[in-house]
Amino acid sequence: MRVRASLKEVEEYKPGKLVKGAIKLSSNENPLGPSPEVIKAIVRSLEGGELDLSIYPWEKNEEALVSEISTYVNASVENIVIGAGVDGVLDTLVKIFVDKGDEAIIPIPSFSLYESLVKIAGGIPRYVKRVGNFSIPVEELTATEKTQMIFLCSPNNPSGNCISEDDVRAIIESTNSMVVIDEAYVEFADTSLEELVNEYENVLVLRTFSKAFGLAGLRVGYGVLPEWLVSQYKKVSIPFTVNNIALKAAIVALRDNEHLRRSVELVRDGRQFLESNLQQLFAVYPSQANFVLLDVTPRKSSAVCDTLMENGITVRDCTSFRGANDSLIRISVGTREQNAKVVEVLMNL
Ligand SMILES: Cc1ncc(COP(=O)(O)O)c(C=O)c1O
Repeated sequence: MRVRASLKEVEEYKPGKLVKGAIKLSSNENPLGPSPEVIKAIVRSLEGGELDLSIYPWEKNEEALVSEISTYVNASVENIVIGAGVDGVLDTLVKIFVDKGDEAIIPIPSFSLYESLVKIAGGIPRYVKRVGNFSIPVEELTATEKTQMIFLCSPNNPSGNCISEDDVRAIIESTNSMVVIDEAYVEFADTSLEELVNEYENVLVLRTFSKAFGLAGLRVGYGVLPEWLVSQYKKVSIPFTVNNIALKAAIVALRDNEHLRRSVELVRDGRQFLESNLQQLFAVYPSQANFVLLDVTPRKSSAVCDTLMENGITVRDCTSFRGANDSLIRISVGTREQNAKVVEVLMNL
């Protein structure tokens, strides 16, 4: 039996650690969980028969979610596609753009799925190392005629910084490649780049319900795409990729502004708390996301992660990120109590 040669280069995705009973600050989830309105709506709709699990997802529910998203992001419904998380949308996009031998530019360290998907498709990732506080050296992002995609994660996972609008415009204008802006963490940031989709034909923006909306377990994300790309997307995407419960949940989540506001406020306050306390001990990179990145030099990240684990807290050791060194740790912002515990443990190292 023979599998595709391109798989030789692909590594399994390493999710954040989940240890029973431990505080999980390893996957950048919402410490408040989903909106209580979402849970009520799901239970009510299942019990009342409005949600029927034996029926394939309804087109009208997909349309309802797209319509709700279009109001939220202030874009036309013609520009929006949905998928099983940003992961699902990325999977479809790479299938659309990357053929064997094509190239994709990835500033590193960044979210590892870009690299895996490109390799699975038989493409060649071209890595550009971030500099200083993990900013992208824009002059090094030179696309060739083989470059099909450029992945810009903003705020970036794991560094938490955003790319400036000027830099993104310079990149978009210098190339015919598709520029993918992954805004999975944008709700926690001060700015978004989503409006650029109205101006250029070679840029798209990805968003998710996994982070600020607390629905990571349901797998819903979306893309704001130039209109010409939407029909290609619909050809390639797996049918019914977002299930009935997830569709319902995402619609209700978008209507619960108060839960979103509380989630974002909790993260911003907690981020500030972690940054101001931990910078007395380590270098802390300024973050626009729901996590902070620490450099624990001269210690090793693995040793500090072990100590946190011994104290019942899982965080992300960043050695698995290509281009990250062995002293970086990413800690998701938790509840006030969880953040205080993190600080207490690290103070006593
Ligand atoms: C930058 C980035 N993009 C996408 C994702 C995945 O998002 P989703 O849950 O919507 O697939 C993550 C998850 O951690 C992420 O960090």
